[in-house]
Amino acid sequence: MTAVPQERRLVTAIPGPKSQELQARRSAAVAAGVGSVLPVFAARAAGGIVEDVDGNRLIDFGSGIAVTSVGSSAEAVVRRASAQLSDFTHTCFMVTPYEGYVAVAEALAEVTPGDHAKKSALFNSGAEAVENAVKIARSYTKRQAVVVFDHGYHGRTNLTMALTAKNMPYKNGFGPFAPEIYRVPVAYGYRWPTGPENCGPEAAAQAVDQISKQIGAENVAALVIEPVLGEGGFIEPAKGFLPALRKFATENGIVFVADEIQSGFCRTGQWFACEDEGIVPDLITTAKGIAGGLPLAAVTGRAEIMDAAHSGGLGGTYGGNPVACAGALGAIETMKEQDLAARARRIEEVMKGRLAAMQEKFEIIGDVRGRGAMLAVELVEDREGKEPNAAATAALAKACHNAGLLVLTCGTYGNVLRFLPPLVIGEDLLEEGLDILEEAFTQL
Ligand SMILES: Cc1ncc(COP(=O)(O)O)c(C=O)c1O
Repeated sequence: MTAVPQERRLVTAIPGPKSQELQARRSAAVAAGVGSVLPVFAARAAGGIVEDVDGNRLIDFGSGIAVTSVGSSAEAVVRRASAQLSDFTHTCFMVTPYEGYVAVAEALAEVTPGDHAKKSALFNSGAEAVENAVKIARSYTKRQAVVVFDHGYHGRTNLTMALTAKNMPYKNGFGPFAPEIYRVPVAYGYRWPTGPENCGPEAAAQAVDQISKQIGAENVAALVIEPVLGEGGFIEPAKGFLPALRKFATENGIVFVADEIQSGFCRTGQWFACEDEGIVPDLITTAKGIAGGLPLAAVTGRAEIMDAAHSGGLGGTYGGNPVACAGALGAIETMKEQDLAARARRIEEVMKGRLAAMQEKFEIIGDVRGRGAMLAVELVEDREGKEPNAAATAALAKACHNAGLLVLTCGTYGNVLRFLPPLVIGEDLLEEGLDILEEAFTQL
């Protein structure tokens, strides 16, 4: 691990002068459509700290959007990827294959849910994995329709924009979108009209009814769902919802795809979030946490489904790059050796208690939710009306940033503060980050 002291330190205002200089260069040279949460330029990062070019050290509650679960410079990732870099950087797996790709596929078969025969295909990004899961499901079922859910997020490519629910900023002005995509309700307990206790079964019944009446189950190739919805607001579907949909998919020959790109790899306190209700998906898409920060993604699933696409139909020049594969083997090794699923559960224990106490104190916290180190608070104008409070969310995030705590927002209504610390973060940093957050609520 890079030797970055594991302590918060502010030596300039945020952003500091060197970051501001880089920001000016960035504005002149980088397309405006690529945003950044805060204009602080990174110099080094490790464990629970991101150090910027001015020497400020920020506590990391974002992990580069749930990527650096093992830290941003984990020893096993750096060691294995560096060794691979000096051996060779690329041959293209579709030209002359190499062992690392096969070893990652073997590891995925081992750690993903279910003990059936599994195969994998590797890609570069989450969106690419989701696109390929749809291709594979269509090829296997010989059907075209794809069912997705309210508040779902699956990426920024053309097909995954169509699969994504939220217009701004993901879709606005970028159409036309891919056809044969159908959106149905999701079990969002906090906002379900008849209350969270009825939400799971009622939302499942509505979803099944819409699929049956509006599409026809026999036309559906795949149902694609995040077992904990990420960008849409860290929504855990109310209990019973996922099992009901899993059952419906099985009964109707529909490929059940769990998009675990954000929730996977120990993030929620289990290897994969769908294990929480014992769901075994037919296909699972992974990326983000898979390779300790190197770009890699995968589709893993039932061998007979994965083998449905003809030879040459899947792949890409860089898919399963050997350096990224070496990084993934290092990340998976770290997760096993350090039992990072248990660390995620411990993070939940520490954070949820403090967040619940804050909810008692601060009227604008409508809901505290999530599992493991994938936690969030949803902010409202008042608890009765539950009007989303996006302004307070943005103000709180900014206050945290200024105090040296990196937090992210999300949610269809922009009113969710989400917390995704690296699973290797020290408990002192976790507590200090929560102190900063609490102070920001107090000052609001
Ligand atoms: C659930 C989910 N699916 C897909 C994606 C897209 O992944 P990528 O940004 O690597 O294309 C994301 C990214 O945030 C995600 O959270």
